[in-house]
Amino acid sequence: VATARDPLRTGRYLEARHGPAVYAPMAGIDVLHLFGPDALGLALRNDDAAFSNRLGWARYLDHVFPGAILAMDGREHRVQRRIMQAAFTRDSLRDYVERMNPNIGRGVDQWLAGQRRRDGLRVYPALKRLTLDVATSTFMGIASGRDADRINAAFVAAVTASMALVRVDAWPTSYWRGLRGRRYLVERIRELLPMRRGRQLPDLFSQMCSARSEEGERFSDDEVINHMIFVMMAAHDTSTSALTTMMYLLARYPDWQVRLREHSLALGKDTLDIDQLGALDEMTWVMQEALRLYPPLAIMPRMTVKPVAFAGYEIPPYTMVALSPIATHHTPSLWTNPDRFDPVRFSPDRAEHKRHRYAWAPFGGGAHVCIGQHFAGLEIRSTLHQLLRRYRWSIPPTYRMPFQFLPIAKPRDGLPLRIERL
Ligand code: HEM
Repeated sequence: VATARDPLRTGRYLEARHGPAVYAPMAGIDVLHLFGPDALGLALRNDDAAFSNRLGWARYLDHVFPGAILAMDGREHRVQRRIMQAAFTRDSLRDYVERMNPNIGRGVDQWLAGQRRRDGLRVYPALKRLTLDVATSTFMGIASGRDADRINAAFVAAVTASMALVRVDAWPTSYWRGLRGRRYLVERIRELLPMRRGRQLPDLFSQMCSARSEEGERFSDDEVINHMIFVMMAAHDTSTSALTTMMYLLARYPDWQVRLREHSLALGKDTLDIDQLGALDEMTWVMQEALRLYPPLAIMPRMTVKPVAFAGYEIPPYTMVALSPIATHHTPSLWTNPDRFDPVRFSPDRAEHKRHRYAWAPFGGGAHVCIGQHFAGLEIRSTLHQLLRRYRWSIPPTYRMPFQFLPIAKPRDGLPLRIERL
């Protein structure tokens, strides 16, 4: 329970006391926690195919996200990933950015309407709404409006159900609501499929329909449906988490907020293209630092399917394993003052993240490395750029954001920020 509640503190304690491989219960099951960048490298590179994603992730994903690419192994994963990659080329990303920029602008323009006088705006739900709207329009090609609202509601219900402790498919459980939400999404996507199959539109849905691997393989209808639903989930909770953390850190360290805003204002325009977003160096360091301190996926599950040698131990097959990017991101031998917010550590001069290939792994690594990491970086930078040009935000000096780390990091209190228009 403690590991699930605070994986950083417990991880540090366990590693300091017992070394890099420790059995400890987590959320009701006995799990072998592996610490350090070598452990991340071993399991993520997975050279001997000794770690299974399928057996690690299935218990969390299979009910509501069947057919998720993250819960696939070996050849099946390779084939699906090769096809999906075709929907994430640089040209596709360029189009996604064009499409999402105005949506982000419209979304953040409405923010002040949500600010209550006493405790400010709860930023986490506002960002979640924004990233979900962006996903519905950029990914599914559905403009905001009632249709998008219904899809978003079905989607939120499905994600809630995937985390439900009580898995009874009967009214009025959140699980029942989530499965109903999933069925609605499946029906809607299936209905739209013939239209998307026939046309080369720039949304992710159309790209997934026409995506072909170099070998010519393509997705079946059911695969497009499952991938669309999973990608929507993988995309929006994680980006919301990262953006929330960045806004929090920029409120705690206002000199950085000023520094980034000066740059965004100096650029003189609200919307930037893929190349201009990529050139926002200081904002990129802040993003990398936020993802280091508070990786949205603090822990990743795997199961061994063969004996594995690690740090002088032999891990037996069918051991449930937890990989801990968050603990590695705070290791003093890799990072200077690891608890300090210090974005410049990512500058080319210091490049602390290059001290070990797996020192910084918020997007995972190896065959399952996040397929949306470049999209995420663009969405995050575009959103922050547009926010910085419109608003200034702050928190009381003593405020510390209370984190809930699992399954995806978020503030327990929604992060109330005081926001003023510039
Ligand atoms: C800051 C934002 C994000 C973070 C921190 C993040 C993190 C991750 C991590 C750690 C994994 C690997 C998990 C594992 O190996 O167990 C992953 C996989 C994945 N992510 Fe992301 N992600 C983000 C945004 C996105 C976005 C925007 C998309 C889609 C547009 C996306 C789609 C996926 C998919 C499809 C996978 C599974 C890939 C595979 O199994 O081959 N993610 N992500």
